[in-house]
Amino acid sequence: MECIYLIGFMGSGKSTIGKLLSRVLDVPFMDTDEYIVEKNQMKINDIFEKEGEIAFRNYESQALKASKSGVISTGGGIVENEDNMKWMKQNGVIVYLQTSFEEISNRLKEDPTRPLWNKRIKERHELFHQRCNMYSKCADYIVTTDKKSVENIVDDIKERI
Ligand code: S3P
Repeated sequence: MECIYLIGFMGSGKSTIGKLLSRVLDVPFMDTDEYIVEKNQMKINDIFEKEGEIAFRNYESQALKASKSGVISTGGGIVENEDNMKWMKQNGVIVYLQTSFEEISNRLKEDPTRPLWNKRIKERHELFHQRCNMYSKCADYIVTTDKKSVENIVDDIKERI
């Protein structure tokens, strides 16, 4: 079976939705962030602080390549790497969970565990807009998430794929 990759900004619900989707479809689940934390025995924040973002992006690419089937919830920055995008295109379908900046701000508030969110509002905004373009370009399907339950979102994904 080919993979179902969930992409989208931090706080768009990729992990929560991915877990339920994999249960409903009865396929394996993998979360690239969880994989990295387990493999390195380090929190994401600490990897950013001690080894830097480039090292984290390398771990992220390795995690993606280790995913063989089922639903894969990716980190928000998976689209920063061209090879990752090619890999996902070749190995499955890509679903972009599209969430507004307002909704994400409400969900994440101040989140010290996410180094790229833990910035000034202007920088958060810039990253959000830059990333949204990348997600839209990369996606096979776009599913909106604002004001929807996890169950509704999973149903929407099932209808598309
Ligand atoms: C990141 C998103 C995070 C995590 C890391 C970097 C990003 O994952 O991979 O903090 O670059 O957008 P979530 O999208 O699951 O928060």
